[in-house]
Amino acid sequence: MKDDLDRIMDVMDAAFDPAWAEAWNRRQVSDSLALPHTHYLLAGPDGEPLAEEGDAAGFALTRFAPGEEELLLIGVRPHLRGKGIGRALLARAFTEARGRGAERMFLEMRDNNPAASLYRSMGFEPIGRRKAYYRLPSGQFLDAITFGRDL
Ligand SMILES: CC(C)(COP(=O)(O)OP(=O)(O)OC[C@H]1O[C@@H](n2cnc3c(N)ncnc32)[C@H](O)[C@@H]1OP(=O)(O)O)[C@@H](O)C(=O)NCCC(=O)NCCS
Repeated sequence: MKDDLDRIMDVMDAAFDPAWAEAWNRRQVSDSLALPHTHYLLAGPDGEPLAEEGDAAGFALTRFAPGEEELLLIGVRPHLRGKGIGRALLARAFTEARGRGAERMFLEMRDNNPAASLYRSMGFEPIGRRKAYYRLPSGQFLDAITFGRDL
């Protein structure tokens, strides 16, 4: 029987293009979830919180630190994109982060990730750039853009 780590990894494997080397492996996810301040959200096919059984359509991983929450990863299965699941996951992440006392949310993404439109439409603004922060499997370097948003 699948547990939530299996459900996250199923989406991870489907959602992230290996060309960008952004996906985490099972060990990275389980180690991070063993820490007290890392949290996950799972969504069903309509973006709703996932019921106990069944596969997830999407997930988000976040980490709380006093006053702020970081969005570590968000992914939605390719065939279920464009239906608002990513938006629903982010909205729930905002609510949960506020409940933990966070006043800001941050995230970092590679410069050319189309997910920037999702982040901007959800109120994030670019606040920083790290030059040549990511090294791709191809050997190419990409900047990291930091986005932030008040909660
Ligand atoms: C980013 C991601 C999670 C978005 O999930 P989603 O369920 O398709 O997002 P939504 O349907 O809620 O999209 C909301 C808005 O974001 C924008 N958007 C989302 N993905 C986009 C894309 N690939 N290209 C352009 N715009 C995009 C759109 O403006 C969309 O608004 P609209 O529906 O009014 O057009 C999904 O594309 C994904 O899993 N990508 C691969 C993993 C990844 O790169 N994650 C982010 C870095 S950790």
